Amino acid sequence: MAHRVTGVLIFFFLFVHVLDTALVRVSPEAYDDVVATYKTPIVALLEYGLVAAILFHALNGLRVVAVDFWSKGPRYQKQMLWTVMGIWIVLMAGALYPVLGHAARVLFGS
Ligand code: HEM
Repeated sequence: MAHRVTGVLIFFFLFVHVLDTALVRVSPEAYDDVVATYKTPIVALLEYGLVAAILFHALNGLRVVAVDFWSKGPRYQKQMLWTVMGIWIVLMAGALYPVLGHAARVLFGS
């Protein structure tokens, strides 16, 4: 279920991202306005959510591939899920500063 939700979320993001990038040819001024809103803390939080969804989908996707194609996959699927969650938490902690650092400086000063 989480795999499906994150897959659809990433697809939706790519859809919006193609539209916002296409705007640069229609109206460069409107494009600049839209991109300026991406520097706000709310969008930074959404970006962190996007990182969370992509990382989970990618890692869990590899687990699904292992369960489907590795003969011992089904036996180890629970251990692999915990491994995925562990790697995901470490990577999410690593993404905290790069993704939310700017927003934190805007909100709380540097
Ligand atoms: C890092 C690369 C990715 C990997 C390893 C990966 C892996 C997978 C796997 C193995 C499945 C099948 C799940 C199942 O049969 O239960 C799947 C489903 C799906 N993926 Fe990905 N994926 C990746 C990137 C993406 C991206 C970039 C998108 C969106 C544009 C996406 C959207 C979806 C969607 C919508 C599904 C269907 C989910 C469902 O019907 O349950 N995936 N992915």
